[in-house]
Amino acid sequence: MTLRISVIGTGYLGVTHAACMASLGFTVIGIDIDPTKIAQLSAGILPFYEPGLEDLLKTELATGRLTFSSQISDATDCDVHFICVGTPQVKDGLAADVSYVHNSIRTLAAVAKSGSLLVGKSTVPVGTAERLRKEILEINPELDLAWNPEFLREGFAVEDTLHPNRLVVGVVNDQAEHILREVYAKNLGEGTPWIRADLPTSELVKVAANSFLATKISFINAMAEVCEAAGGDVTVLADAIGYDPRIGHKFLGAGIGFGGGCLPKDLRAFMARSKELGADRALDFLREIDAINLRARARIIDLVRRDLSDDLLGKKIAILGAAFKPDSDDVRDSPALDIAAQIQAAGASVTIYDPKAMDSARKRFPALTYSASIKECMTGADLVLHLTEWKEFQSIDPREYISIVRNPIMIDGRNKLNREEWQAAGWTFRALGRSSKY
Ligand code: UGA
Repeated sequence: MTLRISVIGTGYLGVTHAACMASLGFTVIGIDIDPTKIAQLSAGILPFYEPGLEDLLKTELATGRLTFSSQISDATDCDVHFICVGTPQVKDGLAADVSYVHNSIRTLAAVAKSGSLLVGKSTVPVGTAERLRKEILEINPELDLAWNPEFLREGFAVEDTLHPNRLVVGVVNDQAEHILREVYAKNLGEGTPWIRADLPTSELVKVAANSFLATKISFINAMAEVCEAAGGDVTVLADAIGYDPRIGHKFLGAGIGFGGGCLPKDLRAFMARSKELGADRALDFLREIDAINLRARARIIDLVRRDLSDDLLGKKIAILGAAFKPDSDDVRDSPALDIAAQIQAAGASVTIYDPKAMDSARKRFPALTYSASIKECMTGADLVLHLTEWKEFQSIDPREYISIVRNPIMIDGRNKLNREEWQAAGWTFRALGRSSKY
């Protein structure tokens, strides 16, 4: 008989997982305590932007395999329950807040049928799964808990879920692994690497992967600082070192650094947890990774100040991009919006345009000004900042736009615009890590 699956928490991860599991033929129910979200999802409306996901949601709702509910008791009959609730950074420290995971697992354990498997997908501090498993067994000894970290990237969520580059399962016994092999039978058939681990290792894999990615980005941003001091060009440097297959070209994009709901908070939670474990020395370097990342935001503001002779008062700054990265409307810890807010606080008048993240940006930063188009945003600007590398920004014709700005200064915070084209059109062009003498 086909497995019945519940997905607890219908945020980014949960909706994607629920829709993808349904597309594999499973009967899936998505559960969330927010009734508005449940009503939207049941009507086929995705509360955020993710390429391809709304279509998949509509298709799977239409098959009847996918439903949503705000009642956890509706998940009672399921064989496998995926826990996909958030673990944000706590307000008064670096650690992750695991209370949503904790509460949902305890509530679920009280209603789940005997023999069912609870599977954590949320990113949690190492040791959480073992602790929760003990608690669950106290509630119902016929249940089990496994951990199955998620590696999907926003913007590629459907693709990454249906075709992950590896599957990691933290289990305590063969029975749990057997059930998860059934869930992921299609991927196993396609040859996706399958890694069985113990619970703590499976939790660590996730934070180790995100820490490594963050380290790669901060490494190249540190090189950008050195290039600036030495008159070098970090884009050429990144290209050159990337040809070494041990290094690779990916995640060597120098610029204003990483943001979003994952990398920054996972890094900090990892440091906080390692301190609790007495292994803080091992992760001391992550403090520097975080500092380099935040410094990139400050460095671009320095460039703005320099080009405006340190006089930001009343200047109009046009900002292209609000999302933390392209193909997403997520503005959590967005470097672009952080920079926008800091420039506005220094007395400038900031106008932002983003192809998809206007609503989410407006909610978080209502005091900034938002434009309906690139043209409106750049009109009368004393300086333009390119902060999220949407494709449409790369096709801006600098010759056409030079006539609408007050001052033709472009600062590329993502190293994705064609410097030669912008300069040939008459713009002053600056970028992080690229000496301005060129
Ligand atoms: C990240 C990981 O890449 C996923 O594997 C992981 O599953 C996910 O977190 C998670 O923990 O759930 P995501 O937050 O979607 O995914 O974003 P990334 O694509 O990793 O980008 C993170 C940030 O780094 C963005 O702000 C991006 O602009 C920045 N970045 C990326 C750079 O500054 N330079 C680069 O070369 C690459």
